[in-house]
Amino acid sequence: MEVTAWLKASASAPGKIILTGEHFVVYGEPALVVALDRKVTVKASGRSDLSIRVASDLGLSGIFEGTSFTAGEGGADCERFLEPVRIAAEATLVKTGSRSGLNIEVQSELPLGAGLGSSSATSVATVAAVAKLLDARLDQSDIAELALAAERFVHVNPSGVDPAVSTYGGLILYKQGQGIKRLQLAARLPLVIGNTGLTRSTGRLVSLVRERRDRWPNVVDPLIKLAGILTTNATAALETGNLKEFGELMDVDQGLLVAIGVSNEALDRLIYAARRVNALGAKLTGAGGGGCMIALCTEGTQPSIAEAIRGAGGEPITAATSEAGVQAWLEN
Ligand code: MEV
Repeated sequence: MEVTAWLKASASAPGKIILTGEHFVVYGEPALVVALDRKVTVKASGRSDLSIRVASDLGLSGIFEGTSFTAGEGGADCERFLEPVRIAAEATLVKTGSRSGLNIEVQSELPLGAGLGSSSATSVATVAAVAKLLDARLDQSDIAELALAAERFVHVNPSGVDPAVSTYGGLILYKQGQGIKRLQLAARLPLVIGNTGLTRSTGRLVSLVRERRDRWPNVVDPLIKLAGILTTNATAALETGNLKEFGELMDVDQGLLVAIGVSNEALDRLIYAARRVNALGAKLTGAGGGGCMIALCTEGTQPSIAEAIRGAGGEPITAATSEAGVQAWLEN
């Protein structure tokens, strides 16, 4: 397929919150995850050469030509941030049997390395924007699969949960190898997100869990199984709108995440601050080791819980859940 010279295409993909099951999902257990109304938007256009130029509104840019990289803004260090975008774009060119140079611009409303799915949303939006530019029809499972190729660069052995929710949007139950089950919320989910401000690497945390499991398989394996049972119960609580039960299970899930070693003092401070002012439940979200936590609130208590998170040194983030998944369009 060829790119028409004047054409520009864009796509947006949402960030996510993992409600229960992060880390355990890597070992085949289900995770409950919901899309956010904060997103990443990617703009793609063709080039007269075969290189791929990637620029991000974080002040990073560079050009990939074959195996070489020339840094623009942000210095040589920016390559590892931009490389997953190149991988997602190239995977889409290969899948669609196309040869073209590309300009890719990334704009993000999500904090980086905070557990809200910014890297997956970027990959998903890149695949969808490039496919739109090429007028190639990819279905949602193709988009999630191609974005997963880029996730594999970010960390070894990703479960695929992040690209799945960024692609499909809404509330989903995800299990590796079985794909997604779409769920309906029986009640509004009043959440406050708290950012510790500590960025961390998902890959490192996934490896830390694997090392602990390798040292203590007969201790960690039962925790993994328990987490699966917990997510099944949490799903039933959400589907019947029982937020009190759901909150209690969030607290239990946090206990399991502490046990596998992915919480830390900064997260625990925000979690206890939220619980102290009567959050129904509070836990870390995403890979842990920093990044974000979430607190489930009763109607009207969001402001006081946000204040408690701020008082404990975190940045409260207000974001609603969203039904929208990836969307692509041609620019005029
Ligand atoms: C990261 O958002 C979720 C993890 O479970 C890793 C993965 O599933 O790939 C920590």
